[in-house]
Amino acid sequence: YLRRPIVAGNWKLNPPTRPDAIALLRLLAANFVNHRATTTDDASAPEVVIFPPLPYLSDAVRILEGSGIQIGAQNAGIHEKGAYTGEVSPSMLLSSGCSYVLLGHSERRSLFGETNERINAAVRRCLDQPAGLKVMLCVGETLEEYEDGRMEEVIDEQIRGCLDGVDATALLRDDRVVVAYEPVWAIGTGLSATPLQAQVAHVAVRNSLSRVLVGASAEDVERVRVLYGGSVSPETAYGVGSMADVDGALVGGASLNADSFARIYDGAA
Ligand code: G3H
Repeated sequence: YLRRPIVAGNWKLNPPTRPDAIALLRLLAANFVNHRATTTDDASAPEVVIFPPLPYLSDAVRILEGSGIQIGAQNAGIHEKGAYTGEVSPSMLLSSGCSYVLLGHSERRSLFGETNERINAAVRRCLDQPAGLKVMLCVGETLEEYEDGRMEEVIDEQIRGCLDGVDATALLRDDRVVVAYEPVWAIGTGLSATPLQAQVAHVAVRNSLSRVLVGASAEDVERVRVLYGGSVSPETAYGVGSMADVDGALVGGASLNADSFARIYDGAA
């Protein structure tokens, strides 16, 4: 099945100031508008999504307009509105220009105590929104789990927990969920998974999706895009991206350099 690739950039807590963010957004817009005619409706070109910190969201919407680059948020709260100081809801994100929400990133899990249950509540809240808002769900095992041979088990547990109770047909119909496999041992370490390691894990993700999305046909599950993340660089992107079940990349560090990010895109295109 031909799945449209996605090249996504997660800026995490970077860059430190708004002028820096504006400069990076301008470089990205120039790279993608002038040199790569990427549009969201050209089905053969990879989709491009960036996840900037929230204070830069309106700058991203303004500067990236017409570039074909979509915008996402790095997390979302589980409430719709009300007395929840400091929270941000999926509907706020959608109506502010976000097409994607990243959920379940390993840094949210390990540094901020997010559980599969909490992530599941956020997934459901996002999927309650109109189809314009998609979820990019991150899963991945730690080094210890990998060495113990528990990669598949951990992926299955995370996918099961995070997608528990979601309506599989609704999720698949509008292509609402993308999975990002990010082995924790590869994030920010410079040690990317090998193409083969990624391929094996992505098959595990797909197998887990078939078990969890009860009622979904094999063909529907084949349609779900599974991205690889973890020390993706222009040097490693092509090898990993060439594997059959790898449908693009979720890039951290290298997405903060507009040229590296463009070179990663070129590897996927
Ligand atoms: O969301 C992105 C990942 O955590 C990967 O980060 O490319 O800096 O290893 P990295």
